[in-house]
Amino acid sequence: MAPWVVLVGPPGSGKTTVGGILAQRLGLGFRDTDADVEAEAGSAIADIFVEHGEPHFRALERAAVARALTEHNGILSLGGGSILDAQTRKDLCSHRVVFLDVSLADAARRVGLDTSRPLLLGNVRGQLKQLMDARRPLYGEVAMLIVSTDGREPEDVAAEIMRTIR
Ligand SMILES: Nc1ncnc2c1ncn2[C@@H]1O[C@H](COP(=O)(O)OP(=O)(O)OP(=O)(O)O)[C@@H](O)[C@H]1O
Ligand SMILES: [Mg+2]
Repeated sequence: MAPWVVLVGPPGSGKTTVGGILAQRLGLGFRDTDADVEAEAGSAIADIFVEHGEPHFRALERAAVARALTEHNGILSLGGGSILDAQTRKDLCSHRVVFLDVSLADAARRVGLDTSRPLLLGNVRGQLKQLMDARRPLYGEVAMLIVSTDGREPEDVAAEIMRTIR
């Protein structure tokens, strides 16, 4: 069993939104590893960061991703930073991974002032730029398809993924 597609990309790239649309169109289940980690830990990601630190969160995330890759056969969206983990990147080699790309400007506009993203607090544009510069090569490394989402509706992005993968 393996996901129909695995979506990766920075915060605001549309993993949750596009993933939900794909799942609905294809009649498949949708799973998000951020939600898996929160369910397992019984607390919000922002709280896990504050109470236990980022390394602890990344360990929970690595386990959640590994489990979802073997258990889930629908659409899987990964937490934005999960590709920072070398083992996770290795695990993704045998999967169909799509990188939802987004410019800094569009990502900043989309995540706005939402405070549920612990790594972006304080200086959204600055943090986002740093995070995107560091992660972009890693998203590219694991992806078989890169889809630009700038200036496009989530429905349009989902349609391109369906066309390409089918
Ligand atoms: N292509 C798009 N065009 C405009 N807005 C979008 C697009 N994709 C997503 N959005 C909006 O941007 C916001 C963030 O999208 P979403 O939560 O799907 O991103 P994400 O990649 O799952 O982020 P995170 O990594 O934080 O989970 C939402 O308000 C969503 O409606
Ligand atoms: Mg999401």
